Amino acid sequence: MSERVAVYPGSFDPVTFGHLDIIKRGLTVFDKIIVAVLNNARKDPLFTVEERVALLKETTKELNHVEVDCFDGLLMDYVEEKNVHVVLRGLRAISDFEYELQIASINKNLNPKVETFFMISNNHFSFLSSSMVKEVSRYQGNVSDLVPEAVEEALNKKYGRQ
Ligand code: PNS
Repeated sequence: MSERVAVYPGSFDPVTFGHLDIIKRGLTVFDKIIVAVLNNARKDPLFTVEERVALLKETTKELNHVEVDCFDGLLMDYVEEKNVHVVLRGLRAISDFEYELQIASINKNLNPKVETFFMISNNHFSFLSSSMVKEVSRYQGNVSDLVPEAVEEALNKKYGRQ
């Protein structure tokens, strides 16, 4: 049987325990996960794409069968280039659904052979987002149970506390 590979795309600005939970649980379904960081020209990220990739590499280094990469442009062009037919996404709450439905539908229209596979977030992380983490950290709130230590340190550095 051929290897079951999924691309897990996102902004990861920065990676949180919620993303890591999806990656770990995704590995129980897929043989390999390619975590693909969008080099978003339109958004104004806190971390550069290189920093986001480095944080993902650091925080997934104990996990086998995880590759971290980045991409520009359309996700469907990227998955075709990688010869992958599944996109993995996490769903936290009903509020995510509309956005995710839109992305999955556009992608289906672009390439009907690619499936989007949703995993429901662990309840523990259903409130967690990179934006919330940045907001809390900016005002010196405690994010130690939301992100790995390497990310917490990187946030402290960004906000000039180290
Ligand atoms: O973590 P995010 O920001 O919710 O991830 C969104 C992402 C990266 C999955 C989505 O914006 C994306 O795939 N962008 C690449 C451009 C693209 O393919 N657009 C068409 C589908 S929205």
